[in-house]
Amino acid sequence: MAIFRPKAEQAQVDFNNLPRHVAIIMDGNGRWARRRGLPRTAGHAAGAETFRTIATYCQKIGLEYLTVYAFSTENWKRPLEEVSAIIGLLKKYLLESIEKMERDKIRLHFFGNLDALPAELRELTQRTDDISTHYEGMQVNVCFNYGGRDEIVRAAQAFAADCAAGKKDPAQLTEEVFSGYLYSAGVPDPDLVIRPSGEIRISNFLLWQSAYAEYYYTDVLWPDFNKEELHKALAAYQSRSRRYGGV
Ligand code: IPE
Ligand code: IPE
Ligand code: MG
Repeated sequence: MAIFRPKAEQAQVDFNNLPRHVAIIMDGNGRWARRRGLPRTAGHAAGAETFRTIATYCQKIGLEYLTVYAFSTENWKRPLEEVSAIIGLLKKYLLESIEKMERDKIRLHFFGNLDALPAELRELTQRTDDISTHYEGMQVNVCFNYGGRDEIVRAAQAFAADCAAGKKDPAQLTEEVFSGYLYSAGVPDPDLVIRPSGEIRISNFLLWQSAYAEYYYTDVLWPDFNKEELHKALAAYQSRSRRYGGV
């Protein structure tokens, strides 16, 4: 696959040494809309556009994994109208993706409890999952009805069930085995977690997987995030010294 290389002056990013896995908390849609006197749902629509642009660009520069936080287990607390609008945007994106995934070389997966979604949407996510197994390309993981704690509890339940069925032995549980029970099974841990919108918190995102991730925060609201902002995050990541507890 031909990998796009932006001109050197665009950023102090070493494109030959990118993180394998970037994760983004797509936050700030509501404030973006409010500043324009628009309904919050308009912010989510704009945020969905930004997601498309950024995912396409990440594919272009040769990133292997992109994980985005689209809807948390806590986001059900929002007004029904807003939740419905977000689910509507997911449906729109899935329908478009099914046509374009192969052309765009993006493999689409979901992290989260999809049982809470309407049957039609669950089928669409199943279809994108199936299509994804047929070709190679960047993997995009969309976290929907995702919570880090929920994910860990589900993994513990599944492991306990395997023990009760005699398939697993509690004494043999390792971090690696446990990781295999998470939504992210088989995906390397994120190297870089980006949070736009000025909030400096994790909000239940990839609690297990981001044990050694580098965090990057910016005041830019997600709908305004663009490739220059991504370059800043990548450059910041590359300036860090990852020690993993060593010296
Ligand atoms: C992120 O934007 C999208 C979701 C959480 C679904 P917000 O809707 O949280 O935007 P703010 O934080 O209110 O600005
Ligand atoms: C985190 O944003 C979830 C997503 C971006 C999907 P929130 O806006 O829900 O987080 P809090 O409430 O500010 O912590
Ligand atoms: Mg928010």
